[in-house]
Amino acid sequence: MILGGTSEAAALAAHVAAAAPDLSALVSLAGRTSAPRPLALPMRIGGFGGADGLARFLRQKNVKAVVDATHPFAAIMPFNAEAACRLAGVPLVALRRPEWTPAAGDRWLDVPDMAAAARALGGEPKRVLLTIGRQELAAFGSAPHHRYLARTIDEPEADHGLAELKLVRARGPFALADEIDLMRREAIETVVAKNAGGAATEAKLAAARTLGIPVVMVARPAKPDVPVVETVDAAIGWLRDHGILPTERGV
Ligand SMILES: NC(=O)c1ccc[n+]([C@@H]2O[C@H](COP(=O)([O-])OP(=O)(O)OC[C@H]3O[C@@H](n4cnc5c(N)ncnc54)[C@H](OP(=O)(O)O)[C@@H]3O)[C@@H](O)[C@H]2O)c1
Repeated sequence: MILGGTSEAAALAAHVAAAAPDLSALVSLAGRTSAPRPLALPMRIGGFGGADGLARFLRQKNVKAVVDATHPFAAIMPFNAEAACRLAGVPLVALRRPEWTPAAGDRWLDVPDMAAAARALGGEPKRVLLTIGRQELAAFGSAPHHRYLARTIDEPEADHGLAELKLVRARGPFALADEIDLMRREAIETVVAKNAGGAATEAKLAAARTLGIPVVMVARPAKPDVPVVETVDAAIGWLRDHGILPTERGV
C-alpha cells in the first residue's frame, strides 16, 4: 500500500502497475483534493481512524509493505504509519523528496511554522504571494495589514478570515516564465512557501531570485524515525529488496 497525495506516489503507482500487473496494490488518499488525478493503481479515499485503525486495515487486508509517500508537510500520517506498521509487523519506508536549499542570490528567511511566517512579514504593509495550500491561510489573520494573493488547487474554506485575499486556482507544475509573469503582474513583494522540495513547484523560487523578491520559507514538520528513500527509483529498489516487486531480471 502506498500512502499517497504526492506526485511521487503517483509515479510509484504507475511503476508498480506496469512492473507487477498481478500484484494486489493500492494507493490511499486522505480525500483533501476534490478531483484527484487518476492513478495507475486502485485507490481508497479517507482516513483510517488513527494509527489503530490503520493497523487494523493492514491486518485485515494482509498488507505486506507500506510506502509512506505522503506530502512532506503531512504532520500526522507519517507517525500513524510508523505506529501502525510497528503494531501490525509490516515493513515501512518513507519516500521523502529532499528539501530545497537556497542558491546564490536567494533571499530566504527560514521560519519554523506558519504563525512565524505571518510574523516575519513585518509591520510594513506588503503584497504577499502565499503558496502554502489552502488549509493554513487563517494563520495570516494575525497580519491583516498585508494584501494577500493565495494560489491553491481547490477553493479554500470560506472562513479563512482574510479580508485582503485574492485567490488564484492552479495546480503545478509551474514554469519559470509564468511564475515571473505572475509575480510582476501582481506586484508581489514577498513570497511565503513551504519547503516542500521537488521540481513541480520549484520555479517560484527561481522567479523570486530573478526578481530579487524575499521568500519566507516554512520548515517541514517533524517526522518519525523510519527508513527513508528520497526518490521513486529508490522506493522501487526497496520494494524489490522486500520481495514485493520482481527484480529487474524477473528472478
Ligand atoms: N499538508 C500539505 O501541505 C499537503 C500538500 C499536498 C498534499 N498533501 C496530501 O494531503 C493529504 C492530507 O495531508 P495532511 O497534511 O492533512 O495530512 P496529516 O495531517 O498528516 O493527516 C491528517 C489525517 O488525514 C488522514 N490521512 C492523511 N493522509 C492520508 C492518506 N494518504 N490516506 C488516508 N488517510 C490519510 C489521516 O486520518 P486518520 O487518522 O483518520 O487515518 C490523518 O490522521 C496527504 O495524503 C498528503 O500527502 C498534503
